[in-house]
Amino acid sequence: MAETVDLDVLVDQARTAAAAAGTTEEIREVAASVTGKKSPLAQAGRRLGSLEPGERKELGRALHEARATVEALIEARRTDIAAAELAREMADSRIDLTEFIPGLAAAPAARGHLNLVSRTQASLEDVFVGMGFEVAEGPEIETDWYNFGALNIPPAHPARGMWDTFYLDLGAPESTLLRTHTSPVQIHLMEQAVAHDLLPLHAVMPGRCYRRDTPDARHLPVFHQIEGLVVDRGITFADLAGTIEVFTSAYFGPDIHSRLRPAYFPFTEPSAEFEVTCTICLGSGCQTCSQTGWIELGGCGMVDPAVFTAVGIDPDQWSGFAFGFGIDRCAQMRHQIADMRILTDNDLRFLRQF
Ligand code: FA5
Repeated sequence: MAETVDLDVLVDQARTAAAAAGTTEEIREVAASVTGKKSPLAQAGRRLGSLEPGERKELGRALHEARATVEALIEARRTDIAAAELAREMADSRIDLTEFIPGLAAAPAARGHLNLVSRTQASLEDVFVGMGFEVAEGPEIETDWYNFGALNIPPAHPARGMWDTFYLDLGAPESTLLRTHTSPVQIHLMEQAVAHDLLPLHAVMPGRCYRRDTPDARHLPVFHQIEGLVVDRGITFADLAGTIEVFTSAYFGPDIHSRLRPAYFPFTEPSAEFEVTCTICLGSGCQTCSQTGWIELGGCGMVDPAVFTAVGIDPDQWSGFAFGFGIDRCAQMRHQIADMRILTDNDLRFLRQF
């Protein structure tokens, strides 16, 4: 009799059977057994015709709901099984092409590393940051004013001859050029410090520079400098000399020292060239240092009052020192590289040593 069919039990049994099915074939069998022609649901449906109209309507609706529930849960299980089977099939059919390339799996691709000049720049920055300096950068294309004018080198001044220049549009209302040194970054920094009330200043400024220099063992037309600038109250030449000496031993080691020799730069007064003990002969004299025992690394001096005036800093209240030296030259000295041109040659036998 139709009344003997417990639909709740049927639905529960269908749910359990569907959950237990693990393949498309198994869920198809579950579907056939719970909703197919010979299923208890179908048999109960066939018996509806023999019932009273009232009873028929009530049981018909209950059967319809039970069938809809069972079909929905079977369909949900079928979708899950299909997704799992597809994922399994894709994983099984994955092809690792490297297996077919002889030797590739055994020898992973070699990774490159930073060029020695970049590494040298990073270690120089580290040393100066350790001494309390901040790191700043400026543009590589400069106006005539920043590269020369503000640095106390007016047009046609003979000092311009010290920096053989690549002009970009000479003769424009304000000529632009590839900066010949990092000293113009001093000007940018001091202008910002004045505008935003940021004095005192203790900064180093690394970057690329350009000169019409013929490449040789100690020169490149594109090279790197690191500039230093301190502006504070009561700064003296002794602070400059001490800073250079501390830097020299920190970077090159305790056996290497610095010395300052009088020189001329239009933007510092007094000015000096700073030299370090030749790292190749440790000061006893050799071919690289022309038997002097010393190698020139850069220039330095006390900031000229004319430069302070150009950026709006009162030279009666503030004083400071600046220095600028070659990063490539530093790398050359630290690693005893006879010819600087090899830094840009892309010769892997050389580059891989660092
Ligand atoms: C200057 O460029 C000044 N701006 C330095 C300075 C800064 C002086 C602040 C005073 C105060 P100089 O032209 O001497 O100075 O260059 C400084 C250093 O840059 C040189 O000693 C050298 O180490 C490096 N250098 C210059 N030209 C080249 C080049 N063509 N190739 C590689 N290194 C170079």
